[in-house]
Amino acid sequence: MEGYIPPTSAGNLQDYEVASKEFTWASVDKEFDWSKGSVYNVAYEAIDRHALNWRKNKIALYSINAEREVQKYTFGELSRISSRVASGLTKLGAKKGDRIFVYLDRTSELYMAMMGIVKMGGIAGPLFSALGPEAVKDRALDSGTNIIITSQYLYERLLPILDDLADLRKIVIVGASGDMDENCVSFDDLLESGDPNFQAINMAPTDPYIIHYTSGSTGKPKGVLLGHRAMVQQCITSRWVLDLREEDTYWCTADPGWVTGTSYGIFGPWYLGTSIVSYEGRFDARTWYDILQRYGVTVWYTAPTALRMLMRAGDDLVKEFDLERVRHICSVGEPLNAEVVRWAMRTMNRRIHDTWWQTETGAHLICNYPCMTIRPGSMGKPIPGVIAGVVDEEGNEVPPGTEGYLALRPGWPSMMLGIYRNTPRFKEYFRIPGWYIAGDQAYRDEDGYFWFMGRADDVIKTSGERLGPFEVESALIEHSAVAEAGVIGKPDELRGEIVKAFITLRPGYKPTEELKEDITKFVKTRLAYYAYPREIEFVESLPKTRSGKIMRRVLKAKELGQPLGDLSTLDD
Ligand code: WT7
Repeated sequence: MEGYIPPTSAGNLQDYEVASKEFTWASVDKEFDWSKGSVYNVAYEAIDRHALNWRKNKIALYSINAEREVQKYTFGELSRISSRVASGLTKLGAKKGDRIFVYLDRTSELYMAMMGIVKMGGIAGPLFSALGPEAVKDRALDSGTNIIITSQYLYERLLPILDDLADLRKIVIVGASGDMDENCVSFDDLLESGDPNFQAINMAPTDPYIIHYTSGSTGKPKGVLLGHRAMVQQCITSRWVLDLREEDTYWCTADPGWVTGTSYGIFGPWYLGTSIVSYEGRFDARTWYDILQRYGVTVWYTAPTALRMLMRAGDDLVKEFDLERVRHICSVGEPLNAEVVRWAMRTMNRRIHDTWWQTETGAHLICNYPCMTIRPGSMGKPIPGVIAGVVDEEGNEVPPGTEGYLALRPGWPSMMLGIYRNTPRFKEYFRIPGWYIAGDQAYRDEDGYFWFMGRADDVIKTSGERLGPFEVESALIEHSAVAEAGVIGKPDELRGEIVKAFITLRPGYKPTEELKEDITKFVKTRLAYYAYPREIEFVESLPKTRSGKIMRRVLKAKELGQPLGDLSTLDD
């Protein structure tokens, strides 16, 4: 068909059809040392076992800081350092099952901390450093966080909320300076106190190793728990989908505060012993191309908003760089426009492989593979071992070409274990018998390719970041001028969606530009730098149901000039 992009080489997954028929999850077990009697622990499989063979001296991590200086760590070094962290945490009183947050910029200490926590049986809670104090507080209270590992400036950012965190016992500070509170320890002292030969704790497959907070359409962010057994799927998809090989240098641009940045920014590639590149700094087109070229990145995992920004930066810029070594590119997080796929073919002569999955799924589910034709705009086909469908309210699969709920047959290894302290929310994913309901609308074409249509709920995706309108509304109404707020995602060419807020003011406040700016700043510093409304509209009133719930659907339809739909529940 016109516009389809044929396979280039077979890649690690030689034949999709054959694998879909023959593959069994049990066949992946032999990849891991636990199948030969070692402990069962994702950190052991990602780091320690490589320190026992020739990979001991192989670079595991190129950590590039915001100033573009690089630090290199071998698997051997990371094994000993993370053991020090694990042992040091144990000496601080940390126990198996404790929730331990990592609130750090993307520096080498972040990787050391994550591995150390998981080694001692803790549940690591990585937090994006762009989160503000209120966002951290919500997550820490929900999970009853016991220890936070952070840096000096981020610690200072948290000072206003620390007293509210009843379960918090210790704070470990990277680059600690000045007088320290008695419950604080410097990261250096933690390492010093720790035993470099600490052995990873044996875990059960269904013990959680990580808690990722993610947003839904209602309520505050929920803690998604992923289990040690997720390694099976993360490992095989790193091979099939990321197409990783021994000699690769791999760069995942996602922050470990989000699941892409851990499942495929840390664990998946390290199970395979791959060298990874991590960059602390923000997006900048020239810098990104430079990193790809300078470090000889061969496999690159990124997101549509970044790719659109690179595309906007122009064809001349990309042609300044030698990107010949980039062998394989994947994308995730939001719809990948066909236009971007064609741009990459034109300028880099490389296919971009779209991948679909979620925080809750723990690993890839619907993807494109080197051995398969790409239909630009499609998310691809389910990975071997997984059954996906498009269903109606009753769980019946709808015919090809018909839109419905994107659904999966439960049972894939990396599926979340649960939502922390929120069983009702967990059960909602399974409200249609026999299926896991993802929250997306999609259709499947005649040949089994899946196409994304939109969210089935109010979740907003802005630059790939997942945001719940309720979190933003809650932050907005904390502002003294705001009476009520309704928040929607408004389609945007560059960012996919932007956050738009409709606000009614308290008596005595004037709808001025200055007030908009003040409200914006308020949300940025308290909630998260990316979560602020890029558009604010002051209104006289908000559409509400008789029970007082804001009807975001109506706000969105009005904004887009679409029919308002069923208004029978509208108040007036
Ligand atoms: C939601 C999950 C785990 C990956 C990072 C995002 C949207 C994800 C795609 C894609 C269109 C996508 C969906 C999904 N999404 N990948 N390839 N095409 N939409 O994880 O933050 O949990 O968000 O992101 O809406 O449900 P997340």
